[in-house]
This record gives sequence, C-alpha cells and structure tokens, in this order.
Amino acid sequence: MTRQGVLEVIQQRSSVRAYESRSVSRDKIERCLEAARLAPSACNAQAWTFITVDDPQLRDKLAPCTADKWLPLNHFTYQAPVHVVMVLEPGKLSAQAGGLIKQRDFRWIDIGIAAEHFCLQAQAEGLGTCMLGWFNERKVQALLHIPKSKTVALIITVGYAGSDSTRPRHRKPFEEVTRWNGYERSSQ
Ligand SMILES: Cc1cc2nc3c(=O)[nH]c(=O)nc-3n(C[C@H](O)[C@H](O)[C@H](O)COP(=O)(O)O)c2cc1C
Repeated sequence: MTRQGVLEVIQQRSSVRAYESRSVSRDKIERCLEAARLAPSACNAQAWTFITVDDPQLRDKLAPCTADKWLPLNHFTYQAPVHVVMVLEPGKLSAQAGGLIKQRDFRWIDIGIAAEHFCLQAQAEGLGTCMLGWFNERKVQALLHIPKSKTVALIITVGYAGSDSTRPRHRKPFEEVTRWNGYERSSQ
C-alpha cells in the first residue's frame, strides 16, 4: 500500500456507535489481530493479550460490563457482534526496568498503538470499530477469567457499521497542534 493509501484509511476511520447485527468472519478479525500483533512496543515487550469475544451469548454478558446505568454512553455495545478485550501483561524485565527508570509505564502507549493498528485494519476490511476506555474492569475480569492481577486496558467493539453511524469529525486545526523545530512558534 502506498503512503497515500495509509492516510486514506486513517481519514475514513471514525468511531462507530451503531452496528448491523450480521456477524463478522473470523478471517477478518484475525487480520485485525495480526495488525495489532505486529505493533511496535517499548523494548519490543509486546506486553499484551487480545481476547476476542464473538460468541453471541458471551457478548451479551460482556456488553453490560461496558454499558450499565452509570455508563449510558456505551449502550451501542449491545449491538456490536464482536468485542476485543486488550489485557496488559507484566512485560519482560528489561521493559519493566526501563519503565521504572523513566517512571513511565510504556505498556499504555504500546497498547494504544496496537489498538489503532487493529482499528485501521478493521477499517480496511470494511468494518467499524470503537475503542472503549469506560467499562467495569472487575466484571470483565470475572466474566472472561482474567486474573485480577492483570489490567484490562481497552475494549474494542467491532462490526459492520449501521447506516446512522457517520458524523462529522472534529479535530483541532493542523496549525494549532503542530510545530517545527521547537515548541515556540517563533522557532519556525
Ligand atoms: C483510549 C480511548 C478510550 C475511549 N473510550 C470510549 C468510550 O468508552 N466510549 C465511546 O463511545 N468512545 C470512546 N472512545 C472514542 C473517542 O470518543 C473517539 O475516538 C474520539 O471522540 C474521536 O472520534 P473518532 O474516533 O470518531 O475520530 C475512546 C477512545 C480512546 C482512544
């Protein structure tokens, strides 16, 4: 794919909060997971596990973990046929040491990159996605038998976008968020 092609996929992606009920083939999901697996990570730690939930009954139990009365925002999760749960693993010692020295848990950066790899591949597959940071972690852990010692970082809903899913994209202007050769605009 050309550089232009990557930008086009990025421009087309937006969070989808309305889904068709039709199921998604595992082939497509596997290519999205492969894109996530190939994501870069600090010290190449790859400190993640991706749990795909495509069993309808299990999905019906997972959806309430992301959308209860305190989280009405996420009610669309009941529609999405697939949920991908991204779990943080401890990572290898060199990565942990690096994080301690720098006082920064790079795994959160890493998982964000992997998540976006997943979502861009999904876009290229004709699928819609939405990343979810709001969910009941304890309930998700219990439902999917994830040890309490591990952090559930993110959930991604996946499915075919419903007809009313498109909306204008709001972004800060290019000039506001970019600088050349230093923070101050005068350095340009
Ligand atoms: C870490 C993270 C957590 C998010 N959590 C939620 C969420 O819980 N519910 C939701 O509807 N959208 C969630 N979003 C989606 C953002 O609201 C969305 O990406 C942002 O508004 C930009 O819109 P766009 O994705 O359509 O370009 C999340 C996005 C990220 C990156």
